[in-house]
Amino acid sequence: MIPWDRGFANPLLTEWFEASEPNGMGKTAVVIGAGTGWDAELVADRGYQTIAFDISPTAVETAQRNHPDSKVQYVVADLLDQPAEWHHAFDLVVEIYTVQALPIRLQATAIQKVGELVAPGGALVVIATPRTEGQPDEEIKGPPWPLTRATVESFASAPDLRLIAFDESPKPTEPTALRWRAEFLRD
Ligand SMILES: C[S@@+](CC[C@H](N)C(=O)[O-])C[C@H]1O[C@@H](n2cnc3c(N)ncnc32)[C@H](O)[C@@H]1O
Repeated sequence: MIPWDRGFANPLLTEWFEASEPNGMGKTAVVIGAGTGWDAELVADRGYQTIAFDISPTAVETAQRNHPDSKVQYVVADLLDQPAEWHHAFDLVVEIYTVQALPIRLQATAIQKVGELVAPGGALVVIATPRTEGQPDEEIKGPPWPLTRATVESFASAPDLRLIAFDESPKPTEPTALRWRAEFLRD
């Protein structure tokens, strides 16, 4: 039993696809910390040639087992030590709950690494748990270590990577909790 395996794609990602209607044909995508693969399957279904990676071999095996006929390339990789050929390589980058799974001292580096994956003209979608307003780092007993608004905005880690949308909504499976979705574009 994996507590964050919901058995379907994150509804906030599904909603983003429905609102944005991107055409993934001929484009590349990467799903970070892909877990059991449901988000990656959604991305691939929208036509993107999709790589989904996770640091956990067990997660990658589970994703492959969950989706035996998948078009997604599932690989074991570390966000903090990613292959050089992934640099600025993806038209769509999806980051859901991976950075917040890392201790706060690693988050700035992780966020920079997320940004490095985005190709010129590409989009980055980030879905994260908001931290309680004003809560200091020392009080957070993670995992997860939820993100501040400033931390989410820092995904615009280079001058050519711009925040273009930010939404707060109830967590689809637990309406008393909130979730943030932010979208960034690389010039
Ligand atoms: C809370 S889970 C979220 C999984 C999935 N993104 C989702 O929303 O269902 C965090 C995932 O990030 C992966 N992860 C943690 N550190 C990572 C790293 N440095 N590189 C790649 N994946 C990592 C974990 O193995 C885990 O699958």
